[in-house]
Amino acid sequence: MNIPLRPLAVTLVALAAVATLLGRAQAGDDEYFPPVTDKLTLQECGSCHLAFPPSMLPAASWKRMMGELHDHFGDDASVDADTAAAITRYLVRNAGDAPGHGSKLLRGLKPGEAPLRITELPKWVREHREVPKADWTRKDVGSKANCTACHIDAAKGYFEDD
Ligand code: HEC
Ligand code: HEC
Repeated sequence: MNIPLRPLAVTLVALAAVATLLGRAQAGDDEYFPPVTDKLTLQECGSCHLAFPPSMLPAASWKRMMGELHDHFGDDASVDADTAAAITRYLVRNAGDAPGHGSKLLRGLKPGEAPLRITELPKWVREHREVPKADWTRKDVGSKANCTACHIDAAKGYFEDD
């Protein structure tokens, strides 16, 4: 038998990394939303703003949004049909109401509702009700949709109170 032994140090580092990830995810399930890992989605949906975690909206929202990209909050974010289909598949498969997901951010949403804004979800509004008005109008924030201004690890999926 000739099984290559993995150096102990590498194994320990790997275990430490896993422990850190689990620790953070468990520290607050409300705070962790798996970030976009699909290259095409990152590229096409992460150029103007954070590529929002797919679990932050229900599947119906993503389908609706992907069907009207030519008029995307006043911007033209359209892509070719194949690209749109691939991105839609990814977003829908990882949506907040996809089997086995159950995103806490969708709480309070009525079945069939397809909001286009995360920032208008009842639960999002509730989570931010104590944020002072002046924080939203800060120059480095500018918009409620600018998550990264306040949640510095948003691109990694962490939305704790920074
Ligand atoms: C050309 C620039 C551009 C591209 C590309 C783009 N967006 Fe947007 N998106 C915007 C703008 C502008 C807004 C409104 C931001 C605001 O209100 O501050 C927005 C808002 C959003 C919101 C709502 C944020 C909120 O308020 O909760 C979602 C969700 C979203 N985009 C998803 C996507 C997805 C998915 C893609 C890829 C298919 C994409 N965007 C590509 C410009 C873009
Ligand atoms: C002006 C700063 C600011 C912006 C912009 C902002 N947030 Fe927050 N967010 C906060 C603060 C502060 C809290 C903690 C509020 C509290 O605990 O009362 C919070 C809480 C949250 C929580 C709950 C975390 C927990 O501990 O349960 C989530 C999820 C969240 N934000 C997501 C987002 C998303 C997604 C965006 C962008 C679409 C966003 N936030 C934009 C400041 C901001």
